[in-house]
Formats: sequence, C-alpha cells, structure tokens
Amino acid sequence: ISLKSFNTFGIDVNAKYFVSASTVDDLKQVLALTNHKNKFILGGGSNMLLTKDIDELVIHINLKGISVISEDENHALVKANAGENWHEFVLWTLNQDYGGLENLSLIPGNVGTAPIQNIGAYGVELKDTFVSCETILISSGEMSSFFKDQCNFGYRDSIFKNEAKGTYIITSVIFKLTKKNHQLNTKYGAIETELEKIGIKTPTIKDVSNAVISIRQSKLPDPKVLGNSGSFFKNPIISLEHFNKLKDNFPEIPCYPASEKTVKVPAAWLIEKAGFKGKRFGNYGVHTKQALVLVNYGNADGSDILALAKIIQKTILRLFNISIEVEVNIL
Ligand code: EPU
Repeated sequence: ISLKSFNTFGIDVNAKYFVSASTVDDLKQVLALTNHKNKFILGGGSNMLLTKDIDELVIHINLKGISVISEDENHALVKANAGENWHEFVLWTLNQDYGGLENLSLIPGNVGTAPIQNIGAYGVELKDTFVSCETILISSGEMSSFFKDQCNFGYRDSIFKNEAKGTYIITSVIFKLTKKNHQLNTKYGAIETELEKIGIKTPTIKDVSNAVISIRQSKLPDPKVLGNSGSFFKNPIISLEHFNKLKDNFPEIPCYPASEKTVKVPAAWLIEKAGFKGKRFGNYGVHTKQALVLVNYGNADGSDILALAKIIQKTILRLFNISIEVEVNIL
C-alpha cells in the first residue's frame, strides 16, 4: 500500500506488508508471529523522511484511548495511548482544564512518538510533564515502563533515539498535569505579544494554547495542505568563542543561552542568511515563512529533499563553520 497518507511529508512510497494494530494484544500477536528483525514501526509519521519503498513489515500503531488514572486536589495523572493524535490529546486536556501541555499545541504527530524526540515549543518540552511511558520490547513482546529519569531526555533527544533505538514500541504515556495554579509559560517567543494583540491580560491555559496556535499557523505550514515534517534541522549549539567570532561578521546573529560556555543559534537564521528561505526547486523547497522547514509541493521524492538538506548543511558549514544536524529520521 502507499504510505503517502501516513507521513506528514506526503512522500509516496510503498509498503510491501502493512498491518495496523489497534490493541496491545494485536500488537503482541503481530510481534510474536513475525521475525523481529524485519519491522518498521509507524506512529504519526510526522518526524520522518521516507526515501524509498519499504520491504519490512510496517506496523502502524493505532492504539487509542485517554484516561485519568489518579488525581488529587492539585494534579491529575493522565494516560494517553500511543495512537492518539498529539494535538487532539492536548485539546482534550484543555477541555478538562488540565494545565501543562498548552504550549505544545498544534505539534503534528502522535502521543507515542512525542517522547522519542522530547517534542518542544515556546519554552516547554514534553519532559516537563512526562511521568512515564509503557513500552513493548519488540524482540520478546515483554512490557515494561520507562520513568522520566530513565529516558535521558535532552533537546529533541531521548534514550529512544540512542541506546534504545529500534528496540521498543511505546504503547502509552502518562503525564502529570495541573488542575489549579497553572504555571503559565508566556515568556518565550511571541506568546506575550500575541496575547496583548487580542487584549488578554490574565490568560487562561486555553488562551495560551490559542496564542500558540495562531503563531504556529502564521509561520508553519499545515501538513494537510503542504507536506512537511516541522523543523528539519536541530538548532546547533556552538561555543561562545565561535559565536563571538561570527558576531564580528554578522552583528545581528541571534542566540539563546545554552550553558556557561555555549549558545544555541537558530538554524532558521543561518539558512535564511545563506539565501535558502523560500527557495523552490520544482516539487520541493524551503518554506517561505520558516527557513527551518523543508516542504513538499507535490510529488517530491524523499531523496530529492534529502539532497537539498545536504546542500544546505554544506553551505552552512562553509559560511559559518557550523554543522547543523538533521532532526527528522531519514528512512
Ligand atoms: N528565524 C529566521 N528566519 C526564519 C525563521 C526564524 O531568521 O525563517 C530566526 C529568528 O531570529 C527567530 C529565530 O530564528 O527569532 C527563532 O525562530 P522560531 O521562534 O520560529 O523558532 P526556531 O528556533 O526556528 C524552534 C523549534 C520549533 C518550535 C519553535 C518555537 C527546533 C529545531 N525547532 O524553532 O519546533 O516550534 O522553536 O518554540 O528546536 C519542530 O521541532 O518541528 C518545531 C517546529
């Protein structure tokens, strides 16, 4: 079958074998019946670039369900199954007036893939509310939990991208959310300006979510309209020394503090400065409003997009002596 509608980049590659698992028991059965070496686990398909047809068995994780597993006066522990759409889950939490995920509104993808790259936006990361996730060991079907301190969360990073890569399937995630005294995080990005614009002085979590949604809609392409995978690259972290040298040539170069001796530079700025923003090459190109996002205008090949990414990386290295790392999974 074609995987076009299963990846947000909208790349048209075929899967030889495809199965969608809607219960954990189904998933265990599929794993038990098949040789564990030949599997391709597919979640929301929002953080991958497919470059060729897939010969392995594609297992689509379609586990649905959201439940409150315990609560007290101040907090609720909420469990969401891996196949829930991330943004719909965030909206569900906001409808219960549970706080913590509002800044992560409108991020494409599913709940089960969110921990893998520790999704983040507007000063908040998944790890801030994450308690644990339940997993299946692909080789044996054995279930176990990973608690926060076992996940090695970092900037767009976790154990599931490193030591545990390709070993487990995340089946559900538990979050600790606030029921009152919500800790609003409006300092980052344009949230405050956006709230001022609509005249809101004491925002609720729903207001913050709405502000995030309108900021994202103003610069990030909707994958349903224009294929993309969000940020294609990570923002690089460089030494202060390196940054200060660059500042001599580019006085306006932006940065965020990273540690005492390092800073994070927006890759989007580097890519824009290098002249790639809004550049279109036939069926694919660099988004017109956010240079960190590569887009598929039609029937682009994943390998063409990958080739463009490599040219961008080389150019950034040549111009700024910075290597920018790809953030999406190339398959
Ligand atoms: N900028 C440019 N040109 C552009 C876009 C941005 O020069 O075309 C510069 C501006 O100086 C701007 C700065 O980059 O102030 C930061 O831009 P933005 O706030 O859009 O954030 P970002 O660093 O480019 C990161 C995340 C996004 C997340 C936003 C908001 C990464 C790799 N990306 O982007 O995450 O939504 O911050 O918090 O960290 C994603 O991971 O898929 C994603 C979209």
